[in-house]
Amino acid sequence: MSKSAKVLITRKIPINAIQQIQEVAETEIWPEQLPPPREYLEEKIRDCAGIVSLLTDSIDEKLMACAKDLRVISNFAVGVNNIDIQAATARGIAVGNTPGVLTQATADIAVSLLLAVARRLHESALDAASGNWKTWEPLGWLGQELEGKTVGIVGMGRIGFATAKRLHFGWDMPIIYHSRSTNAEAEQKLQARKVDMDTLLQTSDFISIHTDLNPQTRGMFTIKEFEKMKPSAILINTSRGPVLNQTDLAKALRLGLLFAAGLDVTDPEPLPPSHELYSLKNCLIVPHIASATFATRNEMARICAENLIAGISNKPLRFTVNPECIRKQN
Ligand code: GLV
Repeated sequence: MSKSAKVLITRKIPINAIQQIQEVAETEIWPEQLPPPREYLEEKIRDCAGIVSLLTDSIDEKLMACAKDLRVISNFAVGVNNIDIQAATARGIAVGNTPGVLTQATADIAVSLLLAVARRLHESALDAASGNWKTWEPLGWLGQELEGKTVGIVGMGRIGFATAKRLHFGWDMPIIYHSRSTNAEAEQKLQARKVDMDTLLQTSDFISIHTDLNPQTRGMFTIKEFEKMKPSAILINTSRGPVLNQTDLAKALRLGLLFAAGLDVTDPEPLPPSHELYSLKNCLIVPHIASATFATRNEMARICAENLIAGISNKPLRFTVNPECIRKQN
């Protein structure tokens, strides 16, 4: 491969990946904290053989049409809902992602959010810092215990499994799940039981969402679903914001249809500070940090670089969501 291949990286990513890419391609990096403007992407992608994109970059058909010889979109994420996969495949553009390496970090955040909202950590810490800690209160900041509670996992893939494993072995929780396919490993190792959605909603003490965003899962949680949950239930979302209707969630939290929610993802991102969800004491929102550990981001970067380098050389990517388009190129 000649170093004349041009590559665009749409944000600063860990240096290991940048160096790997720079060794083989002429590399441009968008240096700002916020995503590049659309016009910049449209202009730069024109001559690029590859692009490293983030989940905040919308890589749609119109953008792909600007490119003369785009061979690979290497997404710095496991989720690829920011990319029009069908359009990429039709154009013979390979799409790479970074599965596996962020599983443990994401499961850690799901459990952290659960503990935080179950025991009202955020609310009580704010009270302590703001002078609302008047005395030791027998009835103050009461929360939910975890031991032996039933957890419902929506989407029993890698991350759902890792979350369920922590909760099952850590707090002896029975696991039920709702998923497209049966997860034999979860059933065998965690005695997880596959159930329909209504059973999951009605039976779970805690629900953790780990599905990808697709037409079936968009808006999956609305007021109808919240009404079926236990008033003591907790909802955790580390998947994608649009899986739940936030207006309905705010209403449900206000009415006490469920006890609390912990969200790593919102719709849109960032969620504006004026959004009602921030004003609710029983809702904790963190800024999409599930994969934000040094180790995980370095691994994501490494895979992202590998995918990109393979793609600009017309070789199969290590991780791709549209393997069929590789065959077209070869
Ligand atoms: C993060 O949300 C990812 O999809 O990698």
